[in-house]
Amino acid sequence: MAAAPAEAAMPAWWRVVSEVAYFAALAAVIGGALVYLAVVRPVLRSDVDVADRGAAHRATVRLLAWCGPLLLVAAYLQLAGRVARGVKGVTFGEALAPSRIWSFLTVPGPHGAWVSSGTLTLIQNICYALAAIALLTLFVWDRPTLVTATVLPLAVLGTVVLALPTTWAGQTVDTQLNSWLTQVHILGACAWLGGLFGLAVVGRARGFGERAGLCWARMWQRFSSVALVSVGAVVASGVWLAWRHVGTVGQLFTTTYGRFLLVKLIIVAAMVAAGAYNQLALTPRIARAHAEGDLGRGFALTLRHFPTVVAVETVLGLAVLTIVPFLTGSARTQAGGPPAPAVDGGVLALGALLVVTLVASLYASYRVSTLLTRRAQTT
Ligand code: HEM
Repeated sequence: MAAAPAEAAMPAWWRVVSEVAYFAALAAVIGGALVYLAVVRPVLRSDVDVADRGAAHRATVRLLAWCGPLLLVAAYLQLAGRVARGVKGVTFGEALAPSRIWSFLTVPGPHGAWVSSGTLTLIQNICYALAAIALLTLFVWDRPTLVTATVLPLAVLGTVVLALPTTWAGQTVDTQLNSWLTQVHILGACAWLGGLFGLAVVGRARGFGERAGLCWARMWQRFSSVALVSVGAVVASGVWLAWRHVGTVGQLFTTTYGRFLLVKLIIVAAMVAAGAYNQLALTPRIARAHAEGDLGRGFALTLRHFPTVVAVETVLGLAVLTIVPFLTGSARTQAGGPPAPAVDGGVLALGALLVVTLVASLYASYRVSTLLTRRAQTT
């Protein structure tokens, strides 16, 4: 017999603000550090004009430094949000008090727990505080490689530590898969959105010379590989999360949870389309302009057109993050349907098939882009 449909609860304003701020700050830090190490630094160490190297370096260091205070404020709001959600009768305003937060973090764990959830949350925020302090040093200390190589593992550890169960009793394949795939989802989303945001900001910096298009063509090409892997991680883990919470396609239209997810998916599809445009249309056009020696057009395409498309993607990404707090409850329960079936061999095989298909299609799009770019350089 079907269960009674569950009411859809709208999140309080402070929950929306604190969660969006948290994921946006985490994306800026993780995506920013990753893009510096995997895209900006390797390109600036290659054959680039001194003026362009200086302009890109200064803009990147300045952006990363400002991510420090951003992370501190966002992590504190997120922590207060956890207290307001976790302690009955405490308002968000009251939860901002350090004493409230400390008593929340020091609540002992239930009998049989190897650690309390307060301790895991404390470890999370110690990681974020250390990462923020390291980023703040960039205001006075120009060592972005050392700082980002420290910040990236700290920020990643800060989010994945909450995937650890506080008790091993009752843990199943389902619960473990859900915890870790949620982290894959968050990390993939942070790398993608934070990378887009970082390059959109640095690409708009002043001081680039007329040959800067050559250096930026390499930046965008390197970033497209980072973006492809991140998109793959977000989509594969997203399909798992969607399967857990949505029982039928119909529930995407008939339930509040489903409708919010549908809007999210439409926005993500627009982001993927913009990314495909950059990779399959703009990148070959940049290659042709440079092959014809037209530095002016190369500059316009790499430092005007491309950053504009990326800035639009970043704004769409922020819209996606704004929808996330509204994904509360589940479409399955809101429709009065059964919860997701337990994971079995069939589900795992389907999941593996999905991942293989996704990897193959992303690799194919990478190959096509490389082919189109090569052809543009030779014809
Ligand atoms: C730009 C792309 C995306 C971003 C930035 C993003 C971001 C997020 C974030 C931050 C969460 C919250 C994770 C948590 O703490 O529980 C989330 C949850 C979720 N995402 Fe995404 N996501 C993206 C794309 C997708 C895609 C493509 C799908 C589906 C195919 C998807 C399905 C879901 C679902 C179902 C949840 C809710 C999980 C729950 O109710 O606990 N997301 N997403």
